[in-house]
Amino acid sequence: MSVLQGKKVVLGVTGGIAAYKSAALLRALMQAGAIVRVVMTPAAQAFVTTLTFQALSKERVYTELLDTDQEAAMNHIDLARWADLVLVAPASADFMARLAAGMANDLLSTLSLATTATIALAPAMNRQMWLNPATQENARLLRQRGLQLWGPDEGEQACGETGPGRMLEPDVLLAQAESIFASGSLQGKRVLITAGPTREFIDPVRYVGNRSSGKMGYALAASLARLGAEVTLISGPVALTTPDRVLRVDVETALQMEEAVMARASACDIFVGVAAVADYRPTEIAAKKIKKSSETLQLNLRKNPDILALVAALDEAPYTVGFAAETDDVEAFADAKRRAKKVDLIAANRVGGSRGGFEGDENALLLLWEGGREAIPMMAKPVVAERLAERIAERYHIQANLG
Ligand code: PMT
Repeated sequence: MSVLQGKKVVLGVTGGIAAYKSAALLRALMQAGAIVRVVMTPAAQAFVTTLTFQALSKERVYTELLDTDQEAAMNHIDLARWADLVLVAPASADFMARLAAGMANDLLSTLSLATTATIALAPAMNRQMWLNPATQENARLLRQRGLQLWGPDEGEQACGETGPGRMLEPDVLLAQAESIFASGSLQGKRVLITAGPTREFIDPVRYVGNRSSGKMGYALAASLARLGAEVTLISGPVALTTPDRVLRVDVETALQMEEAVMARASACDIFVGVAAVADYRPTEIAAKKIKKSSETLQLNLRKNPDILALVAALDEAPYTVGFAAETDDVEAFADAKRRAKKVDLIAANRVGGSRGGFEGDENALLLLWEGGREAIPMMAKPVVAERLAERIAERYHIQANLG
């Protein structure tokens, strides 16, 4: 059963092309058991009709601040008090600006001022509008006041441009909404997690690397933090923002990652190795840039320490979770890794295909632990991370109670 069962959600819809996706979000929230009331701004109604949301929610849609008929059903103060969560998706640049300025010139902005519930915004706009210093300042101000900003995502936009400004997909927003009401099952627990690639230097400007973007590890760090854990993220070089409430330590090479992890591993309750640590490093790093004088160049490589196995072998080892990136025979190879490295749980993903694994926004995992398995189907990485974090928390507590 979803934690959203019986939770009261005001779904605010403002003017933007992404408003059509809010219909799918409404359905997803209702399927998870939430009770949803939809509030639309006048601009939103230029994109989608009230009828769409009314038909889906089987409830009246609220649009007016000073309409006696609507106010008689549930006035703006009643709506503000009723909500456990006010989720505005899409949140336009204009709406964010009005909220930041404390304006109350329509029903949604007024109830947002009057509510004590968590307010979450899913920004959606043209990338230049999002990057505009005025919008960035509004976003900063709203975060500072305790509002949550979910997204925006990056990618192709309806206006034909590419960049940040897309609304997060409905399933990702659903996972975020669930996390608001999650149990806090890792409250007070210390989690150490690695993410991203490592770079193994050949000379001062070249390195051996891999395709890890850090998306899976960062999403998992965020999910574990939302469960209440104190999360330290040891990160290889990636172009991602540090998740809220996560302490990040940047490293480049496998040896630096080993040092950063081993300095902290004995003091943590849970260790998760998501990083794609290079298995080998050049035996020597040339002091100067290697000249391309010869036709062939040979690199001698030395095996790197296996950080995950080292953590699992500690006398007072934390609950240890590894990942396994496999191109074939996924379950057999992953289970062999789980046994060889003596980890408590391994999350296996197929890599090298067209979907899932490295770089992309989606992944599917097969979780294996002693006597159990669970398949998490192909979904957005934050959704997969949410499911994995819940499972890690559950298995950690079972093991802690046994020990
Ligand atoms: O970052 P993304 O683009 O989102 O991609 C996500 C991912 C594919 C990188 C991630 O889901 C994943 O599979 N991470 C593990 C990648 C990997 O190195 O797999 P492996 O099967 O080679 O290693 C097994 C485990 O040993 C991993 O937990 C790894 O962190 C650990 N390891 C490996 C080598 C080493 N020297 N030290 C280690 O700790």
